[in-house]
Amino acid sequence: MALPFAVIGVNAIDALYIVAFILLVYGMTGLTGPRTAVRGNKIAAVGMAIAVIATLLRGHEFHGSGTWELILLGVAIGTAIGVPAARNVRMTAMPQMVAIFNGVGGGAVALIAWVEYRHGFVPSGAHVAAAGAYPLRVEIFELFGAIVGSVSFWGSNIAFGKLQEILPGRPIKLPGASQPVLNLGLLVIAVASAVILCAGTHSQALFILGILVAAAVLGNMVVLPIGGADMPVVISLLNAFTGLSAAATGVALGNTVMIVAGMIVGASGTILTNLMAKAMNRSVPAIVAGGFGGAVAAPAGAGPGGEGGTVRSTTAQDVAIQLSYARQVVIAPGYGMAVAQAQHAVRELERALEAKGVEVKFAIHPVAGRMPGHMNVLLAEADVPYELLREMDEINPEFPRTDVTLVIGANDVTNPAAQDQPGSPIYGMPILEVNKSGAVVVLKRSMASGFAGIDNPLFYDPKTSMLFGDAKASVSEIAAEVQAL
Ligand code: TAP
Repeated sequence: MALPFAVIGVNAIDALYIVAFILLVYGMTGLTGPRTAVRGNKIAAVGMAIAVIATLLRGHEFHGSGTWELILLGVAIGTAIGVPAARNVRMTAMPQMVAIFNGVGGGAVALIAWVEYRHGFVPSGAHVAAAGAYPLRVEIFELFGAIVGSVSFWGSNIAFGKLQEILPGRPIKLPGASQPVLNLGLLVIAVASAVILCAGTHSQALFILGILVAAAVLGNMVVLPIGGADMPVVISLLNAFTGLSAAATGVALGNTVMIVAGMIVGASGTILTNLMAKAMNRSVPAIVAGGFGGAVAAPAGAGPGGEGGTVRSTTAQDVAIQLSYARQVVIAPGYGMAVAQAQHAVRELERALEAKGVEVKFAIHPVAGRMPGHMNVLLAEADVPYELLREMDEINPEFPRTDVTLVIGANDVTNPAAQDQPGSPIYGMPILEVNKSGAVVVLKRSMASGFAGIDNPLFYDPKTSMLFGDAKASVSEIAAEVQAL
């Protein structure tokens, strides 16, 4: 099929790109708050749609017959998979969707490199660069994109598998020091193959495949040894990788929109990675080297030190009395509040307590839930006033003067093992120090572990009582009891 817009003016396409960038950047400013995020997302999506259309209008990029049919087929397949996936995903499964969608971006970049090399491959064995098809600067960017994109695709698949619980969340490591040695070896193979390609070789197809395979194994090997609790940082890092690989490929292909969008993703992903690593007291190189999460998780249900302990269970009625007579109550929400969709009931409880003169604050851990800002989004949805929300650093000094802390579906982010068990996979991660408050009430359904798959000594603390059940039902019951008092 002939390309209908093959002769559209370059200036018009550049103008469309500029409109697209403006919308992308303007849309992103909306992502700074939950109330403007949906609108910002839509604006950025329109920007991206314009960018895609402008790229398609660059008719001279497409060669051969059947190109439009293939593009339309690709768009149809992508739409058929992407739209239902995005519509049906549960809020709590959002991180794995981000991981897999992000990974696909890296995979696309790696495939572009492969296609470009196949495209430029001269069967006689003559090197394309020598033939003038690829200047060295183009090859360097193309191959950088291939390596990083492939690492990102395969690493993201593993991250998806861990978050979706298809793979175990615990670290999967090779014995001894063989893991870093293997990883370094794979990186050397990928980079050496790229250097050989740049230097000119008769076996281009072989070396580009060598690069992609070495980077693929590297992507798997880098993420498999990382423990579940560090996965948020990893996803963010892989996101940044995908952005950088797309930007590099954009330079190689002379595609401005790939450069701009790739750099936005690369830069914002890098900033987010650093912020999250800092919040979790982790160093990014140490996470990538598998230096954290190395310990074997204690089986859930065992007590502190794995020896079993006594757990005190309570009732909604008792909790209501305890809360109503408190001066200050802190609510520490976690993933279980999201699963139970208990945020509206929590808001009702907060109102009921305030009506009784109790001061209520919310303790927000940076990685509570399953995505950055998860708790903020849920609480904003339930109209919990923003000024009641306290970041971890702000609320921790307040726990000693808090009468009761209500832990609603949070587990790992309150686990004192992070502070006092050096062998724990989460050792060193800052936590909400709820155990320092006068009394702690934990709302969850069972003694099951959280995302990191480890036991929580908080549950066996003598000042902790457990209210077992679905968080929404429990919170509603407590709120009703408080109102009735
Ligand atoms: P978790 O440690 O995952 O614990 C959540 C707890 O909620 C579980 O122990 C579960 O216990 C309980 N729960 C589940 N459904 C419930 C329901 N319907 N009603 C009541 N309780 C329910 O959560 P957290 O403390 O928020 O910590 C987050 C973890 O996820 C961290 O390890 C973090 O590293 C990781 N992570 C975070 C992110 C981001 S960016 N936030 C992304 C990926 C991973 P029961 O089954 O006994 O009810």
